[in-house]
This record gives sequence, C-alpha cells and structure tokens, in this order.
Amino acid sequence: MLGHRHLRGQFLIKILMVLLPEMLAGCARAPSALAPVSWNASQIARLTWIIFGIAAIVFVVVEGALVFAALRFSRKPTEGPPSQVEGNRVLEIGWTLAPALVLLAIFAISLQPLVSLASAPAAIPGGESPPPEKLNVRVIGHQWWWEFDYPDLQINTANELHLPAGVVAEVDIESADVIHSFWVPQLGGKTDAIPGHTNHTWFQPNRTGEFHGQCAEFCGPEHALMGLQVIVEEPEQFQAWVKNQQAAVPELAGAAAQGEQTFMSRGCAACHMIQGTQAQGEVGPDLTHFASRNILAGGALQNTPQDVARWLENPQQVKPRTLMPNLNLSQEEIEQLLAFLESLK
Ligand code: CUA
Repeated sequence: MLGHRHLRGQFLIKILMVLLPEMLAGCARAPSALAPVSWNASQIARLTWIIFGIAAIVFVVVEGALVFAALRFSRKPTEGPPSQVEGNRVLEIGWTLAPALVLLAIFAISLQPLVSLASAPAAIPGGESPPPEKLNVRVIGHQWWWEFDYPDLQINTANELHLPAGVVAEVDIESADVIHSFWVPQLGGKTDAIPGHTNHTWFQPNRTGEFHGQCAEFCGPEHALMGLQVIVEEPEQFQAWVKNQQAAVPELAGAAAQGEQTFMSRGCAACHMIQGTQAQGEVGPDLTHFASRNILAGGALQNTPQDVARWLENPQQVKPRTLMPNLNLSQEEIEQLLAFLESLK
C-alpha cells in the first residue's frame, strides 16, 4: 500500500513538472487575461494581481508560522503531550477575525471595478475627454459558433467580430439554444449567453490586433471548438470593412453561378442566408460575405479551399452533432459550391 502511494506521488510530481512550465508560460501568452488591450480587461488584470499578492502574503505568513512552529516547538516523545490551547478565546477570535478582515479587504477592493465595469461610462477614465463613440453589437451563441449582428449597420456575420479601435462596443449577448459564455480574455470578463434573456457588457479596445475568444461555459460535445476572433482595426479600415459587408452579392458566371444553383437545390438555402438571393435560412451562419472571413465552424476550420471542402464533404466528422448534416455531395458539387462560396467576398 505504501509502495503504491509512493509511486502515485512520484507520478503526480512528474505530471506537475511537465505541466507547470506549460501552465505558467500560458499565463504570459495571448489570449491571456493578463495581457489586456482594453480598460475593462486592465481593471480585471489589476484586481487579479492585487488578490494574488494578498493570497501570496497569506500563504507565506501561514506556511511560515507552520514551519516555525514545527521547528521551534517540536518535542521529543519522552517529553509527553504538549500544553493544549483549545478554548483559548484570544486565539479563537484572532483566527476568525483575521480571514474575515482579509475577505472584507478583497470585497472593498473589488467593489469599485465591479461597479465601473457594469456599464460604459460617459468617458473612459484616463482617456480623452470627449465621450467616446459607441457601436452596438448583438452577440448570439449557437451550438457551436458565434453570430455577430450589427443592428445599426445591417450587418450579420459569424465567428469574427470586427471592431474599430478606440470605440466603445456596447454588446448585447443572447443565445439561440443552450447557455454559452462569451469571453475574450484580453478585452473583458466572461458574460453568459442565456436563451430568452439578454445580458449586456461593453469594452473599448485600445489597440488594433486580433484577439482570440472562446466559449467559457460547457455547452455540448463541441464546446471546445466554439472559438471566435475579434479583429480590431483602425476606424478607416473598419469603415472599409463595413462598406464591403453592406455590398450586394455580385453577378456570378461560370462555376460560381453553377455553385449558386447547387446551393439553392441541395438544401443549403433552407438554413443559410445570402442577402439578395433566395437563400433566406436563419439556422446556420449568414454566408453573404463568407469569403471575407478567415475561420469557420467556430474556428474549427480555416477558410481555405481544403478546409471548406472537408466541411462540405463531412461536417459530422469535423464536428460531430453539429446542426449541419452530411449532404452526400458529389466531388463536382463540392467544387461548384467552393467556387460559389469563394466568390462571396
Ligand atoms: Cu458554447 Cu461552450
């Protein structure tokens, strides 16, 4: 029995030795909440470090006292039992009060960020004085992808959230099926996406870049493959993106036009929307500007001909239990569909 326990201990230590450097390295790497790119995420990161500091002090004091007591007051078996301190009122009050005071201090420190993160202020503290511009976005969680709707811009897209740097994004979060959680660690905290209920969050990205997000609430077998990408651009670049997303589908010819017919006849149109065509489905992602995106299927695949072909051929193999069924498409149909989807810039 002892031997077993010893072996198990060694095994655990080995696992820790392998995992610990990985885990610590992960802290510093994007998309870490400790590498914030918005005021909100900075507040959360700051609070994390303060609470970590308090916890470290508590750890050092408690472990220090333990080691000190073990060394200083250890007794030999011949010395008999030590004097008992149970019922010592000063000690009892002391070790009840001390943790309560620590928790009270953490509560007090957390209160201010908690209140200021609840709703976007008229001006970002420490930012420029005029109130920042705002952009309304609806985020809808689906098993297992993200829908992004810009109600004021008539844009609907999937898996990639484009935002202009410096502008406050007012984000309404909903769900089409089960509970998900919208989380872009470098931009803000987690917010649940709940069916039949709208949650709200906001953030103001302070620099351009691509920031990875992930569903943070277990929502079914493909929960791990429910990622998203936030693409923060200079306002001019964002405006160019908006213009492109609002543009109509161009006139198609050749393989692309055949692909459009295949799309309509093979049932794709029942689930997917392509603005300006007969495809008006609302189950799957809006594909009006599919070719302008980098990822699909919640980031499970890149938007390359190989990956899209893999998806069209056998979505159930890429993402088991996804709502997209295997359509038993022929190689020719897949090529036509690829030509069509790639023309949807
Ligand atoms: Cu959606 Cu986990």
